[in-house]
Amino acid sequence: MKPVLILGGTGHYGHHIVSSLRKRHKAVRVLTRNPDNAKKLFDDQVDIIVGDITDTESTKKALTGVDTLIISVSAFSLKLIRRLHEIEYDSVLRVLQEAQLAGVERVIYISVYDIRKEALEQTNKYFASIALIKQAVEDYLAKSDFNWTILGAPPAMDMFFAFIRKDKMMVPGGGPPALPSVATADVGEIAAQAALRDDLNGQRIRLAGPEALSFPDAARRIGEATNREIKFRKIPVLPIKIISILVWPFTPYLRYLAGSIKMLNMFPADLAADVPKDHQYLQNNFDYQSVTLEMAAEKWRTVLENSTH
Ligand SMILES: NC(=O)c1ccc[n+]([C@@H]2O[C@H](COP(=O)([O-])OP(=O)(O)OC[C@H]3O[C@@H](n4cnc5c(N)ncnc54)[C@H](OP(=O)(O)O)[C@@H]3O)[C@@H](O)[C@H]2O)c1
Repeated sequence: MKPVLILGGTGHYGHHIVSSLRKRHKAVRVLTRNPDNAKKLFDDQVDIIVGDITDTESTKKALTGVDTLIISVSAFSLKLIRRLHEIEYDSVLRVLQEAQLAGVERVIYISVYDIRKEALEQTNKYFASIALIKQAVEDYLAKSDFNWTILGAPPAMDMFFAFIRKDKMMVPGGGPPALPSVATADVGEIAAQAALRDDLNGQRIRLAGPEALSFPDAARRIGEATNREIKFRKIPVLPIKIISILVWPFTPYLRYLAGSIKMLNMFPADLAADVPKDHQYLQNNFDYQSVTLEMAAEKWRTVLENSTH
């Protein structure tokens, strides 16, 4: 059985894709810079290749004998942000060229939810650059001979919980009236199933659902599900912007984060309105039961309890 190679297989979304493939007894290979972390995440049947996507020797080794490739890498982190272009663009395009030579037929690319020039103009140039890199990779795939599918991921549902400390959900700018999100486990299921199908060639699918939520609604419902009173607080964005400029000489990361917060607050309303339709498409075309906010709250119960101490 030829393995499915996952680049970014240890990530938030990636490790769920690996688990969903393993549930289906597929042979899976992961390229990682951190094998100890990968060994903790996966059963011993996952083939772990130690290497870096920027290194041709390791990517060629990882691609040997593979017919399906899933790309879910991200450099949107404090440590990697300076290498964003090198990791998410230069290396991804090089890997796609290597994949073609290695005989890979099917490619799944985990991208951002949607890419709109007008919306990006309202963020900042740092955050916009992430989406533009994704767009360039999508354009490359669209012109390629691969059997490809692009999965547009919204923010992970975990985001709602990450804003809660000591029973207060504090959100810079307060967030939009409605925001799509998706559970990491649902991304895992859909991406794994998509990778094993060959009837989704040329499709870009948005992974939303089951619903678009506002932060105040999410706070109330998480509180009800966990028998806590979660208070919602809108906090000002300006201090974050000022700090992000002041720390720029030390790290550009906060400038990207400030851009993502701006994007979050200006999320296009029509995209949020489309969530029920997008979710229905997923329900009709993939075999999975989507995780609700209440189900996610159960998973986060202990973390929420500990955050009050
Ligand atoms: N998380 C979200 O809320 C969200 C929202 C929208 C879209 N997305 C998209 O979903 C995709 C996955 O994001 P994520 O949040 O799951 O990522 P993540 O948790 O930050 O994980 C990043 C992954 O990239 C790998 N990676 C980074 N640099 C690498 C390098 N030089 N060589 C090899 N591997 C490298 C890491 O592997 P090792 O550390 O093991 O080497 C890790 O598995 C991205 O396209 C992202 O833009 C995510």
